[in-house]
Amino acid sequence: MKNIKIGLIGAGFMGKAHVVGYSNVPKLFWPAPAVPELKTVCDIDEETAKDAKDRFGFKEWTTDWQDIINDPEIDAVSICTPNDSHAKISIAALEAGKHVLCEKPISNNPEDAKAMADAAAQASSDGIIAMCAYQYRRVPAVVQAKKLIEDGSIGDILNIRTTYLQSWSADPDSPLSWRFQKKYAGAGALGDIGTHVIDIAQYLAGDIEEVVSNVRTFIKERPVQEGGADLLGTVKVDPDAAKEPVDVDDEASFLANFKNGAVGSIEATRNAWGRNNYITVEVHGTKGSILFNYERLNELQVSFSEDPEDRRGFKTIYTGPAHSYGEVTWNIPGMNIGYGELKTIESYDFLKAIADKKQPSTSFNEAYKVDQVCEAVLASAESRRWEKVK
Ligand SMILES: NC(=O)c1ccc[n+]([C@@H]2O[C@H](COP(=O)([O-])OP(=O)(O)OC[C@H]3O[C@@H](n4cnc5c(N)ncnc54)[C@H](O)[C@@H]3O)[C@@H](O)[C@H]2O)c1
Repeated sequence: MKNIKIGLIGAGFMGKAHVVGYSNVPKLFWPAPAVPELKTVCDIDEETAKDAKDRFGFKEWTTDWQDIINDPEIDAVSICTPNDSHAKISIAALEAGKHVLCEKPISNNPEDAKAMADAAAQASSDGIIAMCAYQYRRVPAVVQAKKLIEDGSIGDILNIRTTYLQSWSADPDSPLSWRFQKKYAGAGALGDIGTHVIDIAQYLAGDIEEVVSNVRTFIKERPVQEGGADLLGTVKVDPDAAKEPVDVDDEASFLANFKNGAVGSIEATRNAWGRNNYITVEVHGTKGSILFNYERLNELQVSFSEDPEDRRGFKTIYTGPAHSYGEVTWNIPGMNIGYGELKTIESYDFLKAIADKKQPSTSFNEAYKVDQVCEAVLASAESRRWEKVK
């Protein structure tokens, strides 16, 4: 069993999630495909970098991501910075022969996303792995949904409808972090959370061919955070701050036609009071239906047309050892997993891909395709017509 030395770039919210993931792989999956060793953590904010070294157990810290790229001992890099820096860091890491686990969305624009997909394709010929962190497709219940679709249990897919609804930006006084600025984020709710459900929709129903959309910015300016609009780290609220414009969407919804003939709808908003991490997926097929809600992530609702007429309706499958990643889902269904185990599943798949030299999903090319859907959604909002995904 090989030790894989990890460099982590960006030690904010997702940096913590990647550390939880790596650290738990050998505890939950044994034998592990490789044992992760936390070598160096990087954050542009010195205090954050130093704190992360001690708190997470890295050997070294730095404020310059190039130190990680130039360290010959580091095998794999986790990129957890805001979206605008994913391309330059990923491409440099891949060119230096390092495996890359990059947070989503893959980039803040499709041109950079394409360059990343090309760099990943080039590096893969040397056995280098590149994976984009769309972890929700790895929820055991979502994997089970895929299995039921592939084995024909619900027949041909007619309709897939997905939502990702949150509330954290509904307050007009929540500050203008990087997530509300196009130059860093690329898009608002669409890029931040819509991309997750586009990834799930394409995982379950194949590629989207065309879209027609409705995109809105409800809160057109927000208070500048303490430290300025260009502060890329932890959001600091300045109650007396002046306001500056928001140039990304608060909400995006669209209809989609899939290449396989299915139709669908996708909605993303961060302005839905009462909704937290409300990811839903409903698939209707010619022989049955599937329903998933992340807020009850250990459950999959299924309904089959072949059930006797007096017994038709949704029933609940509780995921557990009988399902994918059963090793992490404890001994019996109902003991349940959460976000930490999900990020561990993602880390496990990344390390397994490195050990097996086999590209995992979501590949950089699949993640680029998600960005292309976003591009078509934004184009349709402008043209007010159906737009093809390039
Ligand atoms: N997979 C998911 O469910 C999920 C959830 C949240 C965020 N994300 C993604 O993760 C990424 C990071 O988001 P976050 O919520 O952790 O943001 P965050 O603001 O909490 O943390 C980002 C960290 O990166 C640091 N940073 C910024 N630029 C840097 C640079 N050039 N070099 C080194 N450090 C730098 C900041 O100081 C900050 O500590 C984004 O791409 C985001 O879309 C994914």
